Amino acid sequence: MKRQNRRDFLKLSALSAGFLGLAPGKLYAHESIEEKLNNLTASPKRQGESVMGLRVDPIEQVRIGIIGVGNRGYGHVKTLNALAPKAKIVAICDIRESRVTRALDLLQSLNNKKPKIATYSGSKDAWKEMVKRDDLDLVVIITPAPEHAHMAVYSMQQGKHVASEVPISFTLEDSWKLVDTAEATQKHCMMLENVCYGEEELWMLNMVENGVFGTLTHAEAGYLHNLLHKLFISSSDPEKRGYYNQWRLRLHANINANLYPTHGLGPVANYMKIGRGDKFDHLVSMSSLEASLHEYSPDSPPENAYYDRKNFARGDMNSAFIKTVKGRLITLKHDVVSPRPYSRINALTGTKACHEGYPSRLSLYKEDNGHQWLNEVKLKEMKEKYEHPIWKKMKSEAEQNGGHGGMDYILFYRLIDNLNKGLPLDMEVYDGVNWSVIVPLTKMSVELGSVPVKFPDFLRGKWKDERELRFFKNV
Ligand SMILES: NC(=O)c1ccc[n+]([C@@H]2O[C@H](COP(=O)([O-])OP(=O)(O)OC[C@H]3O[C@@H](n4cnc5c(N)ncnc54)[C@H](O)[C@@H]3O)[C@@H](O)[C@H]2O)c1
Repeated sequence: MKRQNRRDFLKLSALSAGFLGLAPGKLYAHESIEEKLNNLTASPKRQGESVMGLRVDPIEQVRIGIIGVGNRGYGHVKTLNALAPKAKIVAICDIRESRVTRALDLLQSLNNKKPKIATYSGSKDAWKEMVKRDDLDLVVIITPAPEHAHMAVYSMQQGKHVASEVPISFTLEDSWKLVDTAEATQKHCMMLENVCYGEEELWMLNMVENGVFGTLTHAEAGYLHNLLHKLFISSSDPEKRGYYNQWRLRLHANINANLYPTHGLGPVANYMKIGRGDKFDHLVSMSSLEASLHEYSPDSPPENAYYDRKNFARGDMNSAFIKTVKGRLITLKHDVVSPRPYSRINALTGTKACHEGYPSRLSLYKEDNGHQWLNEVKLKEMKEKYEHPIWKKMKSEAEQNGGHGGMDYILFYRLIDNLNKGLPLDMEVYDGVNWSVIVPLTKMSVELGSVPVKFPDFLRGKWKDERELRFFKNV
């Protein structure tokens, strides 16, 4: 047993040395690895004022510039167009002109007139010219995920509010840059975590707020979505709607981590009021072996950049255990290459109730001590009783205008409505980075043999303040 421990320790030290940039050939004590890890996640000096609950002057009509109108951006053009005159798309940029043209065609067909919109394309920095315009209030970023943080930082520096797709950041350094820039510029920087507005998720949040779950102890969440074939589609074939330059597969080739954590985790963070009285403390993470991508790779066309490739970094399944300061446990999974039905799991356990998603099931302590899921009639009663007020008010409008069952419309409706009224947004820069930082933290833990890694304190101690969630305000 002793020998085993020593061998593990040597391996850990070697891995750590490479990962943490320590001099090779030298052994390091556990304390020095721990110290390095803690230094990596320590808070840098603040550069501005906190943006918790940030209010800015009301913006009667929010003038929008969009960067990236690929698969997701095309849908956002439709959703934002439906919010006129509260919002107005002023400019669109995509590195590919064909995508800009497609977005303009969509607007023409939706509005039955030629859109008057400034367009930018043709180079990887064309978006900067758009962001410099002085007639924009909000920049909406829908480019490949590793581009979000630097585009958001530059946009805030140019005096614009920002809404970015998920995850908003891929590294610790970029996460801090987002926080520091938002604080220095006093701009909104919201990650577009649409799942926080899902009908089921807001129903659960309403039940949590009304004490139905009792004391929360555990949640399970994830992103389980079979994208195996889609990942390989080359974007040279525009009709097949692959990802630009295969950016998503590129990540799997290079990074062994949870690469898409926020859809499952965002709602759970809201249930547990992370950043509003509790905080993610540390995580440990583990990845399975990699198999699906390299087994499928020889079946992709020979001209594909990833044809017959063996060395994908990402294991098929990444799991993480996250512990909060108050002692709650979250199990988070990410698998987009296995033949399984879609699920974000959405399981929540408290002392008085338990929920599991896919399909939605609820058990209550007061009903048979929770031994059975509620029957259809009782579940329906609970769904009606705790339906979130925003869904009560906007269900048909949302289903008519928004993707993913309407959650995308409610997300943008809330963002624009709060900006129109000069109210704080439902989600702050701190939420976006807290949920996205899972990417670099799981990477660190996996590379170091599943060691515990501390979360940075993006709120610099202010997470201790019990604050209300904004999701119930101004509805
Ligand atoms: N919230 C959700 O439910 C959801 C769903 C799908 C995707 N997403 C996120 O949306 C983002 C976009 O995903 P997608 O599926 O649309 O990918 P995509 O590859 O289809 O679209 C990205 C677009 O960005 C453009 N682009 C790339 N570099 C650019 C640059 N330098 N300047 C301007 N344009 C540039 C590409 O040409 C492409 O049209 C990703 O971050 C993804 O994680 C979120």
